[in-house]
This record gives sequence, structure tokens and C-alpha cells, in this order.
Amino acid sequence: MRELLRVTHRGGTCPILEGSASEAVAIERAVWITDENVAREWGPYLPAAAPTLVLPAGESTKSMGCFGLAVQWLAGLKSDRNTPIVAFGGGVIGDLAGFVAATYMRGVPYVQIPTSLLAQVDSSVGGKVAIDLPEGKNLVGSFYPPREVRIATEFLTTLPDRHFVNGMAEVWKYGFILDAELLETLEARIPRPDDTRLSSMVARCVALKAELVEADEYDRLGIRAILNFGHTVGHALEVLDGYRSLLHGEAIAIGMVVEARLGALLGMTPADAVARAERGLRSQGLPTEIPASTNPARLIDAMRGDKKTTQGQLAFSLLTGVGTCKLVEHVPEDIVRQSLWAT
Ligand SMILES: NC(=O)c1ccc[n+]([C@@H]2O[C@H](COP(=O)([O-])OP(=O)(O)OC[C@H]3O[C@@H](n4cnc5c(N)ncnc54)[C@H](O)[C@@H]3O)[C@@H](O)[C@H]2O)c1
Ligand SMILES: [Zn+2]
Repeated sequence: MRELLRVTHRGGTCPILEGSASEAVAIERAVWITDENVAREWGPYLPAAAPTLVLPAGESTKSMGCFGLAVQWLAGLKSDRNTPIVAFGGGVIGDLAGFVAATYMRGVPYVQIPTSLLAQVDSSVGGKVAIDLPEGKNLVGSFYPPREVRIATEFLTTLPDRHFVNGMAEVWKYGFILDAELLETLEARIPRPDDTRLSSMVARCVALKAELVEADEYDRLGIRAILNFGHTVGHALEVLDGYRSLLHGEAIAIGMVVEARLGALLGMTPADAVARAERGLRSQGLPTEIPASTNPARLIDAMRGDKKTTQGQLAFSLLTGVGTCKLVEHVPEDIVRQSLWAT
């Protein structure tokens, strides 16, 4: 595989590699954790007789129950502290298997092979691993970087279209907040799963994320937080929806349009950035407006639950131009309310 870059973290460096699907899975003497969809499509590519735990697909797998199942499975196999765990799947498997690796025998090496677009451009890079509790998402977790990340855009050829579009929301986000050139590439032709530009776009997103992760490994300095453009509103929409009908990328697509409008109301975001967000995301097939039935008071209340919130003050990563942004704290609630729907 080809090395795209290395992410430096407190414990060392993590190479991000890129290649074909068969190259990505060529790992001997490892144990594999995956989900049923990935196992069905790509299971035949795995090394012969590789011990593999196949879990149900979906967010409900990031649970205490599946965590328990996975560590018991490792103990049953007598898997030792030198045997790497391979997280082979989307963000759900990456987060769960990463957390299993962080805790089994007080930590064993693990490798990320992200198979969804969202996992390739976002969740597999940065070392955040977690499981959910009934009380909330990602409530138990750690910062535990993988030994390496092995990316093959070939995996995306079997990804259901809705999940492809879902991951594209994060790609557009990188364009809006950090890279006007990437944004222009997206606008010039809306990417589809067989797009030959995908691997260079994924590589660009990974490089952008890696830079922020290196500058703020533990997400405490407000640097990594700029990746949260669209996410204060997006997360609140997901909470109100109960994580049922909206996928994360769909929620943040709406969030990006609303937060672009918010930036414009605050005099920070140029009007053409708002128009480009709306147009681009809609052409990609993403939703761009808050459902009319949403209760604004409940939505703003849910925004206060965001991790960027300090002392009940609303915070947002807002565009200061096309390809630039900054973290803005203490945003007045009445302006947030005005930005929720286009006037
Ligand atoms: N750790 C982080 O920094 C971070 C960042 C963003 C999101 N996340 C987490 O990521 C999760 C969402 O990730 P996701 O969108 O990848 O969800 P996911 O893992 O559920 O994958 C989406 C769907 O696509 C299927 N799938 C994945 N790859 C496939 C392939 N190649 N072919 C066919 N089907 C395939 C899966 O089975 C699933 O049904 C959430 O739990 C979120 O909290 C973590
Ligand atoms: Zn996101």
C-alpha cells in the first residue's frame, strides 16, 4: 500500500495507507471485528481462517452488550496482547472495535480498515473510540490511536447509496471550512460512488483532519472543534430525532446550511457561501432544511447539550469565508432562532 501520511500523536505515529481492497486486508495473525453487511460483501477477501467476529450492522452495535460479547470472544480465543484487532467496517465497527482494543488486556494494537465513506474521511482518523449508553451517544470511550489505517476506496463500490451521500456531507464540510479548491472540485461535478476523483478527495480530507488532530489531539484547544461546522445544529437534530430517521451526514447537511445562515446574520459569513452550501448539498442529494414540524425551543435546548457549550452559552464553528472558519462562542439565542429557517 502507499503511505498517504503519518499522524503524530502522544504515543508515536500512525501511518495512513491507501491501496486496493485486497492489499488493505492483507494482514496475517490478527483477529477481525466486522458487521454483517461488510462480511457479506468483503468477507471472502479476508485471509483464510482469520478469526472473525461478525456483529449486527447499525448504531445499536456500539453498545455495552456488543462490547461484552467482543471482549469475551477475544478471551475465549485466548487472544494475547500482541495479536492486533482489525476494525473492519464503518464508523460503528471502528468505534466499537477501537474501544475493545483500548480496554482488552489494558490495550492491544489495532488497525482500522474503514469501509464506509464517513469512516474513511472522518472516524478512522484521530483516535477517538467509544460506545453508546442508553443515556447518550459516545458516553464511554477513549483516545486510542490505531497502529495504522488502511484505506481502499474500492470498498465504497458496495456501500448503499444513502450511506455514500451521508459520507459526502463530511467531504463538503472539509471544503467549506478549510479548502476552497476541494469545494470547487465538488461543485464542478457532484461525486458518485464510481468517481475516479474519490481517492484523491478522501486523501485530501484525511490530510486536513490529520493536521487538526495533531494540533489538538485531545480536542481541548478549540482547534479540532472547527471540524464541527454544521454539527451544533446537526447533533441537536439527531437528538430530537432520537437517531431514528436522519443519518449523521443528513443532519449536519441541514446544520451546515443553518449555520451558514447564522454566520451571515452575525456578519461573518459572506452571502455567497450560504448560497453555495445550499446548492451544493442539495445537488449531492442531501437535505438542507429543518423539518417544519421541529420545535425551535426544543432544538435550541438540545444545542445546549453540545460538547462545545460552555456555561450554557451556544458555540458554533462558523464560516468566515469560503474555505475558512472559526469557533464562535456566546452566540445569542435570538439570532440562532432567526437562522433556523430561511426567510
Ligand atoms: N471516532 C470518531 O472520530 C467518529 C467520527 C465520526 C463518526 N463516528 C461514529 O461513526 C458512526 C457512523 O459511521 P458510519 O456512517 O460508517 O456507520 P456504519 O458503521 O453503521 O456504516 C453504515 C452502513 O453501511 C454499511 N457498510 C459499511 N461499509 C460497507 C461496505 N463497504 N459495503 C456495504 N455496506 C457497508 C454498514 O453495515 C452500515 O449498515 C457513528 O457511531 C458515529 O458516532 C466516529
Ligand atoms: Zn460529523
